[in-house]
Amino acid sequence: MSDPKSKADMIVVSNRLPVDHDPSVEGGWRRSPGGLVAALEPVLQQTGGAWVGWPGTAGLELEPFELDGMELVPVTLTDEDVELYYEGFSNDTIWPLYHDVISPPAYHREWWEAYVRVNERFAAAAASVAAPGAVVWVQDYQLQLVPRLLRALRPDVVIGYFHHIPFPAYGLFAQLPWRKHVLAGLVGADVIGFQRVQDAGNFTNAVRRQLGFETKSGAIRVVADDGSVRTAVAKAYPISIDTQLYDEIARRPEVQARAKEIRASLGDPQTVIFGVDRLDYTKGIGHRLKAYGELLEEGRLDVEHVTLVQVASPSRERVAAYMQLRDEIELTVGRINGDHDTVGHTAIRYLHHSYPREEMVALYLAADVMLVTALRDGMNLVAKEYVASRIDSRGVLVLSEFTGAADELSQAVKVNPHDIDGLKDAIMAAVEMQPAEQARRMRGLRRRVRDHDVADWSRRFLADLDAVRKQDA
Ligand code: G6P
Repeated sequence: MSDPKSKADMIVVSNRLPVDHDPSVEGGWRRSPGGLVAALEPVLQQTGGAWVGWPGTAGLELEPFELDGMELVPVTLTDEDVELYYEGFSNDTIWPLYHDVISPPAYHREWWEAYVRVNERFAAAAASVAAPGAVVWVQDYQLQLVPRLLRALRPDVVIGYFHHIPFPAYGLFAQLPWRKHVLAGLVGADVIGFQRVQDAGNFTNAVRRQLGFETKSGAIRVVADDGSVRTAVAKAYPISIDTQLYDEIARRPEVQARAKEIRASLGDPQTVIFGVDRLDYTKGIGHRLKAYGELLEEGRLDVEHVTLVQVASPSRERVAAYMQLRDEIELTVGRINGDHDTVGHTAIRYLHHSYPREEMVALYLAADVMLVTALRDGMNLVAKEYVASRIDSRGVLVLSEFTGAADELSQAVKVNPHDIDGLKDAIMAAVEMQPAEQARRMRGLRRRVRDHDVADWSRRFLADLDAVRKQDA
């Protein structure tokens, strides 16, 4: 990689760049619609900052370039890196292990070696663009070794790390053959952020037991190999969405018209139930379908009056567990529809696509009941997007207690998705909920997502990092 034009005072490092390389679109770049981009783009634009990440295609070698006031620094991943570091260690070892082994994690030394190699590459790229004393903010589980590697290369920079997914209980984390290396990598950061208080607690517990460092209310006394001591902080910063943007989109006449059109195209059923997830085994899509199928079977729901719209966006399609999940879900959808559809009505409208944000908001507005039944989820931003879109204070959110969002969204109808009977009762309670009760709950939920949006999240995290910088100065 050649030296970029200028050094930056603020750098974000994440596995993916905020844009994907796509030669079929004008300019060659497709913007990633993620919330992280919405939160961090203004910060980087104000500071003339840089974003280090993978452009999403194997083998691409690109020079750093400017985009909307940010400097983008592409990191090259070869076909082999994608297979071993991204699909392998990140998404077939860490992802299932950290989501409570819903799918069995695979431990392969070759994958670990690739993970180390690629983390070194990201750390070197960040080190090469950082101005003296810069703030570097590393994102997520694909890059857990970067904080320590970066500190070794650039002891002058302030390092933050945010973990977007759960951090598991010690009894599960301890399975990882490279557990000490991973923890040592993370405590290389000055501030280590988690979604929930419980995740931060699981982390400090693992640090105490595996590294022997003292911890006190999130402050970790990190002892380096040379005996020097510093303090790292582990703390919860629940991530959120650009609430105002969803509210604003939901008020657009064309989006409201589209919501009506969606309902009409489903045959104007009394009740539209909606689920939208990356097609991932953590999301509990199978549990949701089982509950819904049984409700139809028992006649508690009637296909003439209710439709479930399930958007399942394609994800990690070369990882075996994801291929298998797709087969299972599509078999189940086919069976339920085959058993219950009539010529004019369908039980499940299944869509294996992703949609632009405006279409998502129209779907949220069209949905009487939103089902979020994840078996484990760091946060679940879909739950917050649904709430932010319900400008009419109508609609019911059914929310798994195993999501980070459940800690905050207390007026949702809470469910344990493993309890199929409980899930069925919760769906029925949501379908039958009176408008006044819907409004009471939704107003409380909306207050929460209005007062805690993604700008607030990044402000809180960066303020804590800034406090470290001032201490060091
Ligand atoms: C989760 C992770 C992100 C990841 C996203 C999409 O939200 O926390 O780090 O980018 O899933 O997954 P992908 O593998 O396509 O990047």
